[in-house]
Amino acid sequence: MRILLVGSGGREHALAWKMAQSPRVTKIYAAPGNAGIARQAECVDITPENIEGLADFAAREKIDLTVVGPEAPLCKGIVNLFSERKLRAFGPTREAAQIEGSKITCKELLRRHGIPTAGFRAFADVRAATAFARLGQYPLVVKADGLAAGKGVVLCSEPAEAEAAIEQMMVKRAFGAAGERILIEEYLGGVEASVIAFTDSRSIAILETVQDHKRVYDGDRGPNTGGMGAYSPAPIVSDREYERVEREILVPMVHALNKEQRRFHGILYAGIMFTKSGPKVLEFNVRFGDPECQVLMMRMKSDVVPLMLATIEERLGDGVIEWDPRPAVCVVIASGGYPGHAEVGYEIKGLDEASAMPNTMVFHAGTQMKRDAPITSGGRVIGVTARGKDHRAAQAAAYAAVKLIRFTGMHYRTDIGSRLLK
Ligand code: AMP
Ligand code: GLY
Repeated sequence: MRILLVGSGGREHALAWKMAQSPRVTKIYAAPGNAGIARQAECVDITPENIEGLADFAAREKIDLTVVGPEAPLCKGIVNLFSERKLRAFGPTREAAQIEGSKITCKELLRRHGIPTAGFRAFADVRAATAFARLGQYPLVVKADGLAAGKGVVLCSEPAEAEAAIEQMMVKRAFGAAGERILIEEYLGGVEASVIAFTDSRSIAILETVQDHKRVYDGDRGPNTGGMGAYSPAPIVSDREYERVEREILVPMVHALNKEQRRFHGILYAGIMFTKSGPKVLEFNVRFGDPECQVLMMRMKSDVVPLMLATIEERLGDGVIEWDPRPAVCVVIASGGYPGHAEVGYEIKGLDEASAMPNTMVFHAGTQMKRDAPITSGGRVIGVTARGKDHRAAQAAAYAAVKLIRFTGMHYRTDIGSRLLK
């Protein structure tokens, strides 16, 4: 099979590495890929947003399966376009992807179907939103409706903060059109975890448990990022609690999507708050998490390609997925300035030494080749991922490799996975 992988992050490197192990795969192209992905795939210079260009490429190169990493092309309708052109692509249609593309669409669907989530109101008018924020109960949460690279959520402890967030989103348009409409949401307390599953709209195959670390600094301090690290498994709540998510959230969600002409094929990623009154939805994503994907691919023993094909063809059935029992930990190394303006263009040293460590994979994210040397080209640069006999060993292995990597301005958290070890 000839594969086209869309994207250029650590998630996509993990997918490229995993798919390259499939006996069914003969060739992988990545658009646009990165310096690490270039080891498993031939990188082609087409951006993920250029969905027409990707379809032309897939048709011309006789691609058998296109795998879409990031949400933007999914929300733009890449899967619709490919299916019109009789090309096979893994991921949800534009209509289904709107549950990530528009938080308001998602929340209204959850409400219509009685799926547990935080109470909310949607606003398109800044005066109405501000008036509501003045009278609200605190803490509360202000969210931009559209895609904002994980930065469109503000937890507010008092009205002044909420008013500032509303002003940023709706007046200063910090997220462009994504902030034209906003949500004001009830604050949920509890333990947060993700549940990620393949679904073909008929059945659900849940992946191993995983948790990411969203804040930039140790001890969960500082601003939110796309994710500074992850570990799996994540036994932070009981198996019974995880089973409740399947029964009370995922099954009704797939049913709701079917009923509302948003039939979903692909990865359904539920961000969940386990509250005192049970699990509630924080958000849905329509693709693998990054860096959750890195630890999941490191632990998945089954071939991922047949799972993707079964998902597209609605024959997932009770698709059993085999897992390596050993835990995995991924530590992200970021550029100076991230999650704000990232300083890039620095040479990265020590990658070969880090890659040579046992049970370790050095997944690239924001990297590029410049005159045969890898340089930094994005906020998140490298995701060092390691397995070990237990969480502690996996964590130690990941950090041993991290310490071999050097570039100007680099920073990383030193406590990935420690939440569980306490
Ligand atoms: P989201 O992108 O909607 O998942 O929000 C990003 C992060 O903000 C989540 O991972 C939570 O930590 C936090 N968050 C979002 N919504 C709420 C809420 N209603 N109550 C408490 N925390 C929230
Ligand atoms: N790590 C969170 C996400 O990919 O949405």
